[in-house]
Amino acid sequence: MTIQWFPGHMAKARRQVTEKLKLIDIVFELVDARIPMSSRNPMIDEIISSKPRIVLLNKADKADDSITKQWIEYFKEKDIPALAIDAHTGTGLKQITTLAKTLLKEKFDKMAAKGIKPRAIRALIIGIPNVGKSTLINRLAKKNITKTGDRPGVTTAQQWVKVGKELELLDTPGILWPKFEDQLVGFKLATTGAIKDTILNLQEITVFALNFLKEHYPNRLKDRYNLDELPEEIVDLFDEIGKRRGCMMPGGYIDYDKTSELVVREIRSDKLGRISFENPGQFIEQ
Ligand code: G4P
Repeated sequence: MTIQWFPGHMAKARRQVTEKLKLIDIVFELVDARIPMSSRNPMIDEIISSKPRIVLLNKADKADDSITKQWIEYFKEKDIPALAIDAHTGTGLKQITTLAKTLLKEKFDKMAAKGIKPRAIRALIIGIPNVGKSTLINRLAKKNITKTGDRPGVTTAQQWVKVGKELELLDTPGILWPKFEDQLVGFKLATTGAIKDTILNLQEITVFALNFLKEHYPNRLKDRYNLDELPEEIVDLFDEIGKRRGCMMPGGYIDYDKTSELVVREIRSDKLGRISFENPGQFIEQ
């Protein structure tokens, strides 16, 4: 993550999002399908309370399908429609416009009744860094990027990206911060690659990831690292993986840094399969 979030920056980011909200009909809140709660801004409900919203569970290609379905239900129960998408390949993107039209039907019908000329739905994409905002804008825009702000007589500095005839996106997304003062959130963001390793200790991230996998996906760990049984202690699991993968230092000691890099890299590149690091059951009471 290149952005350093100091209180001043947070206030500025929030102000910028609030300004953009005035221009749009609907918010597309982008979250990482593997960690939908940890990859969102803790104040998001308050910040966009006045606008309809669709939660887009992006990178669904990397998440556990059955858990993504549970997340969609979770948001539905909170009256927030959610869709699973893969902005990289474009899977699920067609549904976005259809759903936005349904959600805004009443507003647009009212506008038509007042004699206001029909126009495209205006949307803002919001999300934390690295969640896939640029990828989604580029994918939706295809090659039809029309910077309508350049037209004579259009005074606003904001520019719009056309998505077919029915949707327009603000070309700069709203960037918000995650709840990174929470260490567990930090570990999840680091494991999925949303924040860079240097911010947190890579060995600690790996301990978190291995503990999680041991509890939730033990067979994936066994298969990937050729283990008949998973050791009780996490340090022993580290040792086994290090030994099997040749992450050694002179004298036959395990190189924990090298082992950590290997494990985190393999998780991020889906070598252990599609993994969700959060499920709605953990958040029901909140
Ligand atoms: P941002 O604007 O929100 O900061 O995110 P951006 O679009 O730059 O996306 C961050 C990374 O996530 C990019 O990878 C992008 O290709 C990847 N990405 C975005 N959407 C999806 C998706 O639906 N599925 C998958 N699998 N990947 C997605 P990158 O540039 O290669 O960076 P990195 O992977 O090295 O972090």
